[in-house]
This record gives sequence, structure tokens and C-alpha cells, in this order.
Amino acid sequence: MTIRRIVVTGGAGFIGSAVVRRLVAEGYEVTNIDKLTYSGNLASLRDVEGAANYRYHQADIVDQAAIGRILADARPDAIMHLAAETHVDRSIDGPAEFLETNVVGTFRLLQSALRYWRTLDKAAADRFRFHHISTDEVFGALGFDHEQFTEQTRYDPSSPYSASKASADHFVRAWNRTYGLPVVLSNCSNNYGPYHFPEKLIPLTILNALEEQELPVYGRGENVRDWLHVEDHARALELIVTRGAVGESYNVGGRCERSNLSVVQTICDALDARRPRADGSYRDLISFVSDRPGHDLRYAIDCSKIERDLDWTPTMSFEDGIKGTVDWFLENEWWWRPIREQGYAGQRLGAA
Ligand code: NAD
Ligand code: TYD
Repeated sequence: MTIRRIVVTGGAGFIGSAVVRRLVAEGYEVTNIDKLTYSGNLASLRDVEGAANYRYHQADIVDQAAIGRILADARPDAIMHLAAETHVDRSIDGPAEFLETNVVGTFRLLQSALRYWRTLDKAAADRFRFHHISTDEVFGALGFDHEQFTEQTRYDPSSPYSASKASADHFVRAWNRTYGLPVVLSNCSNNYGPYHFPEKLIPLTILNALEEQELPVYGRGENVRDWLHVEDHARALELIVTRGAVGESYNVGGRCERSNLSVVQTICDALDARRPRADGSYRDLISFVSDRPGHDLRYAIDCSKIERDLDWTPTMSFEDGIKGTVDWFLENEWWWRPIREQGYAGQRLGAA
């Protein structure tokens, strides 16, 4: 028996919508639960909203009564839990929401999942998976040596965001060890691609550049992130939820380390080629601004376990991925223009 019916939380977000689009196209029965916070956007699901194998419920993962009803109705073989507050800079300005959604929300979703799981017959209970989608930021900062995060790396979070995700990871493992809930976890590096909310470095840089605004680079731009295209991540998540081993975690990364300054320069060069400025290069808009408090120096993922056990590997090169992402933003102003005008115009967050 395989997994066919999947509940996705946070399916109107950046990664969640990529997961939903992929699962619907692959023929799974998909139920999306999303509260629609500032970063949730049903426009990202336009391609699948009419599909017969797609359902949507606007609900808060904290609301156990509502989630219980949805689970009883959808009868999922798996829950993929992506709903979260996700922006480090916002977690610096207002950490409370991160505890409420990422810690309390995950705890309440685990309770709802456990109650549902206990209603299943043995075959369905054995098949069931609670897949918790987490971040490499739980491991804290690496130095500039060649070290990488493995699944055994000690947790050492720096920001309110990463501390809340680390806490959620611990609760998920505890629900497996204490109550037997069949869980699987994944910790992924920085994603980029279409439908990315323009508060994060890559989409913010693209849209600021198109509007001839400054491109803020924190500190000296030397911090390193390991970039993965969101569709490579969605493919990894499908493999983990369907074939991952219970109780295990999988690190997912792009084998693609870049300094922030080089990321911003790559975007500028792609824009110079696609939509040249009247005068000069987009690089002229780069502006070094005060650093993020508690800014982790470097993240890098050793993804050999998922490569070996689940036969996954990142396929999109960073240069092609950035060109494709720049093209997507150039061609999809209908998606981002309302966000820039009514949601978030690109001002500095988290300077504390
Ligand atoms: P996002 O901010 O784009 O989307 C989050 C979604 O969750 C939104 O649609 C929002 O409406 C929904 N949501 C928030 N609170 C909710 C609640 N209480 N109940 C129901 N829905 C709620 O985030 P993202 O970048 O797509 O990240 C998704 C997940 O992947 C998160 O758990 C994040 O920690 C993890 N992750 C993200 C990255 C990355 O680079 N973006 C990397 C690794 C892991
Ligand atoms: P971000 O996209 O916020 O992801 P995360 O903090 O989860 O890694 O930031 C990526 C990197 O880019 C991080 O080192 C902070 C830096 N950054 C800037 O230099 N300028 C910006 O305007 C933003 C939003 C981020």
C-alpha cells in the first residue's frame, strides 16, 4: 500500500505551493490547510485550484477542532507540515508569532495527527507518516572551513525563527518516541524560485532592482548560504514522505554555496542581460547596510544521506535557476505587484 492522500499545511506559501502543484500533477489526493497569513497567497495555486484531486481549507493549525474535522474528512495517508512563520528578520522584530505558530502550532498539529492516527486500522496506521519540514538553520552557524551540517550535527539555533523550528523538531521526535506516531523530518537549506515572497534576499533583490531601488546587502555580504531551487526541494519532499524511514531525518541541500554578495551580483548580471538599465549596471544599486543581529556566517548541507538512501540529487544549477527565476518575476507581475503595493513594499526589517 502506498501513500495517495496527503494533507499539506502551509500549501499557499512559497515551498508549500510548489509541493501542492507537484503532488496534484502527480495524481495524489491533496488537501491544503492554510491560514493565509501575510505570506500565504492562493494566487500561487491558480494552476491547480480547479483540479478534481485538490481541496483547500482556510484554517489555523493551532485550531485543533477545525484540524480534527478536516483530517476526519480527508483521511490522509500522510501529513506534510510546512505551515510556519518563516522570515528571520520578522522573528527579530516580533518573536511571539513564531512561538505561537511554529512551536504551539506544531504541538497542536501533532496532537490532532495523533488523535486521527489512533483511529486508523493497523495497515493504515503503519502506512501513515507525519512529515515535518524544517530548516538547516536549527544547526546554527558554520565557519569558513569545509565543515557541513550532517543529520548528526548538534542543534545550536541563533535566531528566534531557528530556535522555534528547532523546538518544533524536538516535539516531532518526542511524539514518535513517546506515542509511536510515525514521523519523518527533513532539514533543508535556503530555497529560491517562482512564487517566493519578496521579503527574502533573492526576490527582494529582483523587485528592488526592477524598481531602481537600492539592493541592501547586510554587513559585507560575505555570509554564505547553500541555495536549492524550490522544485528540487519539492521533489525531495515527495520522496521523503513516500519512502523516508520512520524516525529518520534527511538533510536536503543544493551543494551550491554562494556568498550573499555574489548572489546579488548574479541577479544583477541576469537582469542586465534581460532588461538593461538606461544607464549602467544593476550592480550600481548594491548598498552595504548594517548587519542582521545574530547573523549566522555560513550554512552548508551534506546531503549524501538522501542521495544514497532515496536516490535524490539537486538538478538545477544556480546560474540557470537564477536566470529562470528572474524571467519568472519579469513575466509574472500580476503575482507580485499586489504584494509590493498592498502587502510589503521592501522596507528593511529586523535591524533591531
Ligand atoms: P512561507 O512563509 O512562504 O509560507 C508559510 C505558509 O504557512 C503561508 O502560506 C502561511 O499562510 C501559512 N501559515 C502560517 N501560519 C499558519 C498557521 N498558524 N496555520 C496554517 N497556516 C499557516 O514559507 P516557506 O518558505 O514556503 O516555508 C515553508 C516551510 O519550509 C516552513 O516550515 C519553513 O520553516 C521551511 N523551510 C523553508 C526554507 C526556505 O528557504 N524558504 C528552507 C528550509 C525550510
Ligand atoms: P533570507 O533570504 O532572509 O534567508 P535566511 O535568513 O533564512 O538565510 O536571507 C539570506 C541571506 O541574505 C542572509 O544571510 C541575510 C542576507 N540578506 C541581505 O543581505 N539583504 C537582505 O535584504 C535580506 C532580506 C537578506
